[in-house]
Amino acid sequence: MEKTKQLIEKRLLSTLGGGENRIKKQHDQGKLTARERITLLLDDSSFHELGALVEHRATTFGLENQRIPGDGVITGFGTIFGRPIYVFSQDFTVLGGSLSETHAAKICRLMDMAMKNGAPIIGLNDSGGARIQEGVVSLSGYADIFFRNTRASGVIPQISVIMGPCAGGAVYSPSLTDFVFMVEETSYMFVTGPNVVKTVTHEEVSSEDLGGAKTHAEKSGVNHFTASNDVECLKKVRELISYIPQNAYETAPVPSVIEFTSAKTNYIKEILPENVNMPYDCRKIIDCIVDDLSFKEVHIDFAKNIVVGFGRLEGKSLGIVANQPASLAGVLDIDASRKAARFVRFCDSFNIPLLVIEDVPGFLPGTDQEWNGIITHGAKLLYAFAEATVPRITVITRKAYGGAYCVMNSKTLGADLNFAWPTAEIAVMGAKGAAEIIFKKEISSAENPSEKWLEKEAEYAELFANPYRAAERGIIDEVILPEETRNKLIASFKMLEKKAENLPHKKHGNIPL
Ligand code: HXC
Repeated sequence: MEKTKQLIEKRLLSTLGGGENRIKKQHDQGKLTARERITLLLDDSSFHELGALVEHRATTFGLENQRIPGDGVITGFGTIFGRPIYVFSQDFTVLGGSLSETHAAKICRLMDMAMKNGAPIIGLNDSGGARIQEGVVSLSGYADIFFRNTRASGVIPQISVIMGPCAGGAVYSPSLTDFVFMVEETSYMFVTGPNVVKTVTHEEVSSEDLGGAKTHAEKSGVNHFTASNDVECLKKVRELISYIPQNAYETAPVPSVIEFTSAKTNYIKEILPENVNMPYDCRKIIDCIVDDLSFKEVHIDFAKNIVVGFGRLEGKSLGIVANQPASLAGVLDIDASRKAARFVRFCDSFNIPLLVIEDVPGFLPGTDQEWNGIITHGAKLLYAFAEATVPRITVITRKAYGGAYCVMNSKTLGADLNFAWPTAEIAVMGAKGAAEIIFKKEISSAENPSEKWLEKEAEYAELFANPYRAAERGIIDEVILPEETRNKLIASFKMLEKKAENLPHKKHGNIPL
């Protein structure tokens, strides 16, 4: 009896974390506690805690009197939609969720288990960083985690959810993982905070502006998914999990109910504007192809000129990359290339076939782009596609110009199939620019140069502003009608389901990082 009581007391102490007052403070800030978050993230009653009684061993700065079972991080396993998941949740009520040697060891142990058992790991971050009283051992705890993040990359999906502070070197674990979620107003990430920024650069900036969810969603691209509160955020994490496999050796789950509204087959014909220079939203095309309401966009607020996300075709997960004519005419630039390259890498790591919907006028010109390395960043996307061995198909709906044509999963870059709509224009550049260059002398010596230019533009367009030159060469496998697209893709991805392609043996490639 006495022994049972002892266990109950220990459990209670661990469950209470930093105590009622700190829990209230957490709630008053609009944040849930570490335990409440786990409960919402996982299936009902599925959580099993590991290491609830672990305590730190530090004896300096009064820490010997502040031993709280669990040491500021709750670790364990459970399920999401019935599939195993490992989760750690930092408890800000215990020494600010700061990372001690033992706190780090708990996370590392969990990561090792996730790797051995081939299941995703989700980290709920809410921490004041390295436990200052512990010094270097807490720092090396971070390095232990970074090492494992890197080794686990491409083996099991790793997801970071930022639900409070995440500062200093602590930011590097989330950035090594596959997806970052952030909560507006209550979470922030930065390498150095507003005070240091003010001292060094004399800039005055709030935590939210420097490293809040919106900043990282729109400016840096560090944040893939933004939520307005903890509850919404955890719901979004569950949704994402439903699209991805458990590990690099499995495929994503297929839902039991598959719906497709047949009217979309007609609607898809109406999406492209008459005028080839008019914008439209590429998401409309995506929605007409994939199963109803299945498109889940990733990185929605970053590099809006390219859209990436997961969708389903007859229940099977697909990674979709689409140029977005509604933003910057869908050009490729540095951010778009980085965004899409990272997404392609994720899909290829985890056996998710790739679908590219292409309408791209080229790369964005300018000193800003050139000086900041569009050459290297554009190459990332090339590399990601060229190295991907999952089934990959491109559908060219309208423009496919120049280098951007090559980059966007072209046939000779190793795509399995390239389809084009009759409206496709596959050429080195648009007809107007092409005519200006190749008929320069003829245009300038003509009696009416503008008329001549128009005439030559029409001549070039007649020859190249269509998919047929490419189809004649077999660079386009088939010219299809928009309304044929979904069925063509279903049949094609089915045909490619057992695709097996091996890369040349090497230690690893040298991706243009
Ligand atoms: C130990 C910490 C702590 C830390 C917070 N606490 N951060 N204890 N180590 N890193 C404790 C506080 O003493 C306090 O204890 C409780 O957590 C809550 O903190 P408050 O300051 O009261 O909360 P709040 O006002 O909300 O401010 C949160 C905060 C602030 C902005 C995170 O606590 C803060 O600035 N902390 C230090 C951040 C930092 O510089 N960390 C080191 C980063 S460098 P009581 O007992 O009063 O409740 C780093 C290097 C990693 O992490 C390198 C890896 C390569």
